[in-house]
Amino acid sequence: MTTLTINNRTVSIEQGALLIDACRAAGVEIPHYCYHPCLKVIATCRMCAVEVKGWSKLVASCSTPAEDGMEVRTDTPAVAEARAGVMEFLLLNHPLDCPICDQAGECKLQDYSYQYGSGDSRMAEPKNRYDYEDLGAKIVIDKNRCIHCTRCVRFTRDITGTCELTPINRGSHLEITTFAGLTLDSNPFAGNLVDLCPVGALTSRSFRFKKRSWYLKPIPTISRHGADAKPIWADVDRNRLWRFRPRPEGNNTPTCFISDEERDAYRRYSIDRSQRQVSPTLNGKDAAVSDIAQTMKANGPVAVLAQGTFGCDALQRLGELASSESLRYAHGNKRIPIQNPAIQKSEDGVINRAGAIAQGYRFDALEELLSRVEAEEVKTVVLYHDSEFSDESENALLRRILEKSHFSLLLEPIPSNLAQAAKATLATLPVTTYLEESDFIIDHQGNEKRYTRALIPPKGVKTPGDWVKELLIGH
Ligand code: SF4
Ligand code: FES
Repeated sequence: MTTLTINNRTVSIEQGALLIDACRAAGVEIPHYCYHPCLKVIATCRMCAVEVKGWSKLVASCSTPAEDGMEVRTDTPAVAEARAGVMEFLLLNHPLDCPICDQAGECKLQDYSYQYGSGDSRMAEPKNRYDYEDLGAKIVIDKNRCIHCTRCVRFTRDITGTCELTPINRGSHLEITTFAGLTLDSNPFAGNLVDLCPVGALTSRSFRFKKRSWYLKPIPTISRHGADAKPIWADVDRNRLWRFRPRPEGNNTPTCFISDEERDAYRRYSIDRSQRQVSPTLNGKDAAVSDIAQTMKANGPVAVLAQGTFGCDALQRLGELASSESLRYAHGNKRIPIQNPAIQKSEDGVINRAGAIAQGYRFDALEELLSRVEAEEVKTVVLYHDSEFSDESENALLRRILEKSHFSLLLEPIPSNLAQAAKATLATLPVTTYLEESDFIIDHQGNEKRYTRALIPPKGVKTPGDWVKELLIGH
């Protein structure tokens, strides 16, 4: 460990840590632009300058390792003057377009300008002007706002290795642009550039001009559409989901970045509430839960077939409907090829496989269930399913199981055409999506990951646990 003082406060930090991290450990936030914990350090913006006793000049805390006995100060007039100078410099060519800028409310230039800027500018010359530029279908760049921190360039160079972005020209004419006419369309992680850009230069085409950030309430959840179930924010306003963003855990690179597929998955959960099914049905007609429960009772034995992408609580409650423990079957077989090992660790798209197994569910036994249904050893199948996570062959097998069973009870948060497969008696229950419930999963590394309700479901739509309670009462 290394022990030093920050503004007279003693702090111990692991050997090799940077001064910027030591300051954070001491509870002192250091303003920074070019530094990002998951990118290579270049120390060009100088916003993070601090004073070290005995050193003749201010030092960049993002590139200076902490040393034993160092006496660091971040609250001296020299540091304040340096920060104000950097702010004035960065704002020389920056437009005052915060009212129409997408980054307003979450812009580091805005925040630091207020906290550390001088309020004056000596710039008398006209500012450089550029037009918006499309960097493909995903990202738009407004170069007027760029402060040349090169986070974006380092991301495409060092993290994705695709090198689409590059600086061109020099001095005050330096611009960030795509290299040799490339776009960012084929980069499956391009959306991260919007999060990385500390100002409003790189914006997302899908989110641009849609919502002011201060209306959004970030709810901590997990990504269900990547194999690692990464921590993410679900940004919600008035019960509507607007975007998914990474929710970094410290300096852990994989949690800082998500794929565009995971980011864009928010669209699946922005379901038109007026189109939602809000009451149970039996053979296509609205029905009482007690009627469904009676039909189930008359058609035993019951098998539960649940997908391993759903939460442990839901799986556990649903499992109570199975006539015996051996009748808990699990499915889901989505594979997500690893495109970048630094960002993605597993390719198993069934995020709660371990949790489902812990609840007594068996994977890879659908053929067995089909034969038991055909032999009438199982007459009712309760299917909890999201078609996104089963490939065509698995969906075909599920269809056959529904076709052959005497009675099927279908719970689909996002309905597919599976219901049409059931030739025998079919009941459906309107069930919540994972954003409408609080639950947890056990990821592929055995870690428990909790998520909290981000959206309120329409009246009548309930969690599987609530439906099971009602079904068991109606028995
Ligand atoms: S576009 Fe954004 S991330 Fe890239 S250099 Fe400019 S300010 Fe930095
Ligand atoms: S953040 Fe340290 S020099 Fe830019």
